[in-house]
Amino acid sequence: MAGSSVVVVGASGYLGRHLVAEFAARGDRVCAVVRDRRRAEAPGAHGAPALAGLPVRWREVDVADPAAPLGLAPGDRVVSALGVTRQKATPWEIDLRANLRVLDAAERAGASSFSYVGALGMDARTSDLLRAKATFAAALRRADLTGHVIDPSGYFSDLGWFVDMARRGRVLLVGDGSARLNPIHGADLAAFIADRVAGPAGRWEVGGPDTLSYREIGALACAAVGRPPAFWELNDRVCGALQWTADRLGRRTGELARFFLAGLRTDAVGEATGVHHLADHFARLAAQKG
Ligand SMILES: NC(=O)c1ccc[n+]([C@@H]2O[C@H](COP(=O)([O-])OP(=O)(O)OC[C@H]3O[C@@H](n4cnc5c(N)ncnc54)[C@H](OP(=O)(O)O)[C@@H]3O)[C@@H](O)[C@H]2O)c1
Repeated sequence: MAGSSVVVVGASGYLGRHLVAEFAARGDRVCAVVRDRRRAEAPGAHGAPALAGLPVRWREVDVADPAAPLGLAPGDRVVSALGVTRQKATPWEIDLRANLRVLDAAERAGASSFSYVGALGMDARTSDLLRAKATFAAALRRADLTGHVIDPSGYFSDLGWFVDMARRGRVLLVGDGSARLNPIHGADLAAFIADRVAGPAGRWEVGGPDTLSYREIGALACAAVGRPPAFWELNDRVCGALQWTADRLGRRTGELARFFLAGLRTDAVGEATGVHHLADHFARLAAQKG
């Protein structure tokens, strides 16, 4: 539809920045929804691109605010990379309620599609984060527009701490580290999503080109910093004690621990896509921090 845009919500985050850059490179009319444009124009964390100078329309708004106007138009394709990672809010406030608000605005404006980034394994609902995400995906399936749900494996941005641990001499594993994932670079995931936003409704589980166990990821991190692989395995008893302690530090800490302890023991392997390899990413991190 003339005048419609690809509207990226959560455009200041790791994935959101790659999405904006990808759609702009494809020549789409892009609207970036952020709460702080200046921060989004500067380089992002984990190598995510600066958005300064890209041909995008900006909408500076806090989507957590129920009164905030989103300014969506008929025919818009909404892509949401909105979610809580390091931020203080709860997954119920952002991954569920803020996304519901955007979905409601999209339906009322006559948007043509809504593409949502969930997480591989969210239907297991083992933590508040996964419950909030699965609940939103269910609402999207009932919505009156074309819904795309993309469930990715772990992002490169979430694995840099393996290099930090390797540098300290020992990589921590939950259990024996045999759970497998295929980590994905933000640019590869953005391209996968951009290929689908104009297509029919659907749901995709996706990851990067290399499937690795957490132990193999640890070994890659050790190799990147020039150390022999060395691990520290957390057995069930230690994990139970950590969870018990985290629960007593408050709901948010307890739920974060539940998310990570379950995630690090569960396979998360999706359809392989992309050209970026974790070993190269680790080599760059090791060189930067060396
Ligand atoms: N990281 C992974 O390994 C992984 C794996 C699978 C799925 N996912 C999902 O992929 C999505 C994107 O992840 P990411 O790593 O790119 O996350 P991110 O870098 O933290 O970006 C999240 C985006 O949501 C916005 N946001 C968060 N809390 C907000 C709040 N209270 N009010 C307004 N905006 C808020 C952030 O805005 P600000 O920049 O202003 O904070 C940012 O634009 C998330 O839904 C995540 O759950 C991530």
